Amino acid sequence: MDDDTPDEVIAELKSRPIGGWGVAQIAAGTGLAVYAMWAGILQPGFRKVPLKLQVPYIPASRAQVQNVMTLLRGRQGGLVDLGSGDGRIVLEAHQHGFIPAVGYELNPWLVRLARFYAWRAGHHGKVSYRREDLWKVDLTKCKNVTVFLAPSVLSLLQEKLEAELPDDALVVAGRFPFPDWKPCIIEGHGVDRAWAYSVQEQRQHTVNKNNLTATESFTVN
Ligand SMILES: C[S@@+](CC[C@H](N)C(=O)[O-])C[C@H]1O[C@@H](n2cnc3c(N)ncnc32)[C@H](O)[C@@H]1O
Repeated sequence: MDDDTPDEVIAELKSRPIGGWGVAQIAAGTGLAVYAMWAGILQPGFRKVPLKLQVPYIPASRAQVQNVMTLLRGRQGGLVDLGSGDGRIVLEAHQHGFIPAVGYELNPWLVRLARFYAWRAGHHGKVSYRREDLWKVDLTKCKNVTVFLAPSVLSLLQEKLEAELPDDALVVAGRFPFPDWKPCIIEGHGVDRAWAYSVQEQRQHTVNKNNLTATESFTVN
């Protein structure tokens, strides 16, 4: 029987060279553990979403939510929050009279948490949290849209919003502005800033921009 003490075993392990194969095994094991944590706990439901379109959960601050509500003042109808997290914007929007107020979120834990918060606030059944990929949501009937997403996805999202939303829709972006759109109102300062965009105006800007590009290329040729 081997009667080495734990100290002796550790000393022997320390004295053994790890070697290339050992390093590869440690790296693979660590990578697998990090991936399991990312896929299972932090970003479950995101396996089918391309990596460059994945946005981590960073909840809006109280000031950010207030700025969004200020920009939505005077608006009516339904509201959709794309990537709704724990549902705070949807809940606040419902309390400001937006009906229906709907959140789309891929992370099932956050969807459950949002439903719990709605129930705790006495609004169970009045707000809706759907576990759906925001890129697949049909936005053709949405009048008010809020987004707190990462700069890496805003360019692509601009195209989807401009292609699908009705002319009288208003889009409010928090934390980061859309790269090519011109806001009609800006509220707040620094990280709490939020931008409101009229879809009709964006379409007009796009038409003007395309006309200008066409004229320029015609002049050059
Ligand atoms: C920065 S957080 C904002 C959460 C919330 N709107 C707020 O302001 O507190 C972005 C959220 O979008 C979700 N998300 C990212 N990509 C998504 C997708 N393709 N479909 C649905 N939700 C998505 C993330 O899980 C995350 O909860």
